[in-house]
Amino acid sequence: MKIVVIQGPNLNMLGHREQNIYGPMKLEDIHKQMQNFAEQNKVEIEFFQSNLEGEIVDRIQECMGEANGIIINPAAYTHTSIAIRDAISAVQIPTVEVHLSNIYAREEFRKTSLTAPVCAGQISGFGPFGYHMAMIAITQIMNEVHAMQEAQKAQMAQQSLKNS
Ligand code: DQA
Repeated sequence: MKIVVIQGPNLNMLGHREQNIYGPMKLEDIHKQMQNFAEQNKVEIEFFQSNLEGEIVDRIQECMGEANGIIINPAAYTHTSIAIRDAISAVQIPTVEVHLSNIYAREEFRKTSLTAPVCAGQISGFGPFGYHMAMIAITQIMNEVHAMQEAQKAQMAQQSLKNS
């Protein structure tokens, strides 16, 4: 099973940008922790960061047939991008949205997420630990989906035995 982690604009600046809001941790250190969690839980993981909306849409589309789960922090595009929302909705892959800061405790324009309604859920306000929580959530969802698919397969096999 595979998780793709997608990071939006300016998240490559973590550790430098507004440390009072986003903290001192760099994106690569957050990714190292996620990589460790993935190894411990025997899931594959891949990381992608882009400052460009179209590239994020392309990466979400590429997840089809490749990923079983997506973790995304669309950053500023959370509040503006119908294109990213539509891409998440189109691929039908369980997706967890993460924000380092509590977007509901900040400026008015950050209180709306266009992407959250098409995600399985949203984690906001726990800093880098939010990505760890997202790993737990997406692993759980992927396991549930996998178990459901296996049960369906077994049921179909039983049915075709009956019919033969
Ligand atoms: C953010 C919150 C967004 O409002 C902001 O534009 C970001 C980061 C977060 O992780 O808290 O770039 O997504």
